Amino acid sequence: MSLDAGISKALLNWYDYNARILPWREEPTPYRVWVSEIMLQQTRVEAVKPYYDRFMKELPSVADLAAVEDDKLMKLWEGLGYYNRARNLKVAANQVMDEFGGEIPGDYQLLLSLKGIGEYTAGAIGSIAFGLPVAAVDGNVLRVITRITGDERDILKQSTKKAITEDLLEIIPKERAGDFNQALMELGAMVCVPNGKPKCEECPWDTICRAYKEDLTERIPVKMPKKKRKIEHKTIFLLEYQDKIAIHKRQSKGLLAGLWEFPNAEGILPVEEMERKLKEWQVTHFQLDTTAKAKHIFSHIEWHMTGFHILCEEKPELKDLVWISRQEMEDAYAIPTAFAPFKAAL
Ligand code: ADE
Repeated sequence: MSLDAGISKALLNWYDYNARILPWREEPTPYRVWVSEIMLQQTRVEAVKPYYDRFMKELPSVADLAAVEDDKLMKLWEGLGYYNRARNLKVAANQVMDEFGGEIPGDYQLLLSLKGIGEYTAGAIGSIAFGLPVAAVDGNVLRVITRITGDERDILKQSTKKAITEDLLEIIPKERAGDFNQALMELGAMVCVPNGKPKCEECPWDTICRAYKEDLTERIPVKMPKKKRKIEHKTIFLLEYQDKIAIHKRQSKGLLAGLWEFPNAEGILPVEEMERKLKEWQVTHFQLDTTAKAKHIFSHIEWHMTGFHILCEEKPELKDLVWISRQEMEDAYAIPTAFAPFKAAL
């Protein structure tokens, strides 16, 4: 079912009164919008705000981002997760410097040529920062539109997204494309919410919404179930020697590539096995505590971790470790959120 152009007006009126004041909305330059959109992928607005302000203070321009040291970038991103998003930002900033003379291009296809910018992000930057009449369709927008039109197609399918993008292109008001896209996102975040009951009585589209009128909001959006996540058990070694903690750099490819971690092993090792390992590492005097259990959920994998704090009286003979103070752990090394409960326990 296609959309009627007349409905944009009601949405924009609603947005004019209800838009949240957000740092990237105050001054929507291409660079600021771009960074905000990358941070907002997979992370909630409220969680993003403090990261965003700090990032803009430290790296106020594309040139600053292109030149930033990787470790500093990872530290600025620490806690936001999906670290490849940050790495891609830097690669793309270098593309902007080398290929576009330091100016982010105001063209949808050229935006798509930048690393880490897909259709959604190109649509968001294009419309919000440059006023281009392009759509920006993410999960929030798909939920809103399928509910309005009573569309029971699977929103995880590319074909559904493509059809909805085409329908939206027909009704985007040319003079307020960025506001229109942000209004849809805002409606999805504040009214037509992703978890729990939508607040249909507050919706500017209550009189036209098929899902509301036909009581289908629990059924729509339709999402076919995803495959179950793989569960990996891990033992985390919190090795301490003379007030320093051992960390290890992860390999440069794959999950959490290049970030720091506490040394660890596959599986949950029984205490006897831990003691055998310590002997192997030439540690004969130590204090061993089970410190914390933690679970971390990535998109396709879950880590179920048990941490042991091991206070060593001899320095463990283990390769590739860096020994750092608790202060350095806070200030200088990007340790992913997956390990935060262990960091806190130390
Ligand atoms: N989520 C993603 N982009 C957004 C934006 N510009 N405003 C509000 N929520 C968003």
